Amino acid sequence: MSKILAAMTITVLIALAGTFVPAPVTFAAELQSLRGDKAIDEPNTTPELFNVDESGPKERAYRQQPPLIPHRIDKYEIDLKVNQCLRCHDWPYNVKENAPKISETHYESREGKRLDIVAGTRWFCNQCHVPQADAPTLVENVFKPVILDR
Ligand code: HEC
Ligand code: HEC
Repeated sequence: MSKILAAMTITVLIALAGTFVPAPVTFAAELQSLRGDKAIDEPNTTPELFNVDESGPKERAYRQQPPLIPHRIDKYEIDLKVNQCLRCHDWPYNVKENAPKISETHYESREGKRLDIVAGTRWFCNQCHVPQADAPTLVENVFKPVILDR
């Protein structure tokens, strides 16, 4: 009798164990780091430049959007000391260059103090502004801006 009980217990345990086997992770093979297969300490190759759309500024998708850049930027250096965007977009150079002046919000410190020079928080322009390109959407996007009827 006890043998039968033991056999039954084992059968039940095996059956239960079967239900707890984790489902195989099917997406693992498709996941890839943006760096590709290069090791962290190996220098990576620079990705090809995407076709920049220079046909004119595109509409903003929502009010607060950092405008897209309607020109190439690969020749303009931005580092700790140099920012070549400013020679066209900082006042008063923007007037001569006929370029839009950087927004007044870019001359405000983190504490809201008005500054004479572009704020450090806005120094690395391409943190927020990217050249416009006719790029395929990576994921479905159903975003709609808030537009109030007046
Ligand atoms: C040689 C001058 C020059 C340089 C340097 C330059 N830009 Fe521009 N930029 C322009 C001009 C001119 C326009 C307006 C083009 C148009 O309206 O078709 C413009 C447009 C823009 C706009 C769109 C603004 C809006 O209101 O639509 C952004 C954003 C911008 N540039 C960012 C940058 C950034 C970031 C850099 C540096 C990486 C940079 N620019 C370097 C001349 C320049
Ligand atoms: C932290 C994000 C951020 C950074 C960094 C930043 N911008 Fe902007 N920029 C914005 C946003 C958001 C707007 C639109 C709202 C506004 O005017 O503040 C804008 C607006 C602009 C405009 C349009 C101004 C207008 O009146 O239409 C220009 C030109 C511009 N930025 C250039 C630059 C340049 C050049 C740099 C680098 C020196 C820079 N931005 C850095 C977020 C940023």
